[in-house]
Amino acid sequence: MPEMETAQFETDLSLFKYDNLEQLPPEYRDLGEAERTERIERALDTLGDDVVILGHNYQRREIVEHADFIGDSYQLSKEAASADADYVIFGGVTFMAESADIITDDSQRVILPSMEASCPMAGMAEALQVDAAWAELTAETDANVIPITYMNSYADLKAFCAEQGGLVCTSSNAHKAFEYAFEKGDKVLFLPDKHLGENTAYRLGLEDEIVEWDPWDPESKDASKAVENDIILWDGYCQVHERFRQSHIEQIRAEYDDANVIVHPECRREVVEAADRAGSTATICETVENADPGDTWAIGTEIHLTNHLQRWHPEVNVVPLCGDACMDCNAMRQIDPNYLTWVLEELVAGRERNVIRVAPEEKDLAQVALDRMLEI
Ligand code: 13P
Ligand code: SF4
Repeated sequence: MPEMETAQFETDLSLFKYDNLEQLPPEYRDLGEAERTERIERALDTLGDDVVILGHNYQRREIVEHADFIGDSYQLSKEAASADADYVIFGGVTFMAESADIITDDSQRVILPSMEASCPMAGMAEALQVDAAWAELTAETDANVIPITYMNSYADLKAFCAEQGGLVCTSSNAHKAFEYAFEKGDKVLFLPDKHLGENTAYRLGLEDEIVEWDPWDPESKDASKAVENDIILWDGYCQVHERFRQSHIEQIRAEYDDANVIVHPECRREVVEAADRAGSTATICETVENADPGDTWAIGTEIHLTNHLQRWHPEVNVVPLCGDACMDCNAMRQIDPNYLTWVLEELVAGRERNVIRVAPEEKDLAQVALDRMLEI
C-alpha cells in the first residue's frame, strides 16, 4: 500500500457534525453498474487485506454484494472489534461508523463512503438536550437512574451514558441492558427510541412502569411525576418503522391463510403484539433462513432487507408487510455504490476520503458504554 495522506477538501455544507464531508466528484456520478462493479473489484484486489467492507442488512444490493460481512448493528460492531484491516469501509450510517471507530484500534481508519448517511432517530436525542433532561429528572429523585442509549445515537450521548453508569444496547440485546441497569440501579432512562424501550419493557413484564418524556413539549413534561415510574422513555422514533400499522398485519393475514409476520422492535407496540415474532434485522434474516420451503413470511422492516431476503431465499414466500407503502431508509440509501467506487479508488491512489474520527474526549467514555454492551 502506498503511504497515505489525508485529503483536504472544501465544503459548503454545514449540516453535518464532521467537518470533512466530501461530495462525490462529477466523474463518478454516472457510472454504469458493469463498469462500477469491475472498478470496485479491481480496487479491492489491489487493496487486499488492507480493507474490509462491513454492510448493514439495510444497504442496497450493490453494496452488500461487495461486503465481507453483512449483519445487524450488534454483529457489525463485533466484526469491527475483531477486524485487523487498516481500513474498515462501513456500509451503514454515521452512528454505526462512529461505533466502529471507537471499537477499532487507533491505527485503523473507518471510512463512511457518504458522510450524509445520518439516521434521523439518532439526531432526536442530542447530548445537550439529554443533559438538561437529566438535570431535571435527577433533581426530583434520590433513586439511582441508569441511562441506556440505543446504538442509534451519537458518540457524545454514548459517552454521557457511560459517565452516568449506563451503557449502549442494540435491538438484539436491549432486554439484557435493562436487566444490567436494574441490577445496578433503580430506574432507567432509555434513549432515543420509545418503541424499542416500550417493547423491551413488555418483554420483561415491566409495562406498568413506563412513562414517556417528550423533550420538545415543555407542557407535557413533569419531572416529579416522571420519576414516580421506573422506565422513562425518550420520545424518539424511526419514521421507517412507525409506518407499520396493525391493519397491515390484518390485511396480510386476510390475503394469505398461512402468513407468518415478523417485525423489527422499532415498530409500534400494537404492531409487535399482533406479529408472530419481533427481532433485530439479524433475527429477521435467521427466521427466513430457517423457514420451510413454501412458508409465507411478511416482513415489517426497511424494504431493502425484504428485497434481499426475497433474492437470498426464493424457496420462501417473502412479502413486504405493507406492500408498496414499505419505505427504504433515506439515511442508509446515501451509501451509493458510486461513492464506494470513489473511496476505494482513492485509497488505491493513496488518499483517504470521508474518514470518521470520533473526538478524543468522547472516544474513551463511549468505548466504556460499548464495552459494557459487548460484555452483557
Ligand atoms: P438492527 O440493529 O436490528 O440491525 O437495526 C438497526 C436499525 O437501524 C434499525 O432501524
Ligand atoms: Fe435510523 Fe430508522 Fe434508518 Fe434505522 S431505519 S437507520 S432507525 S432511520
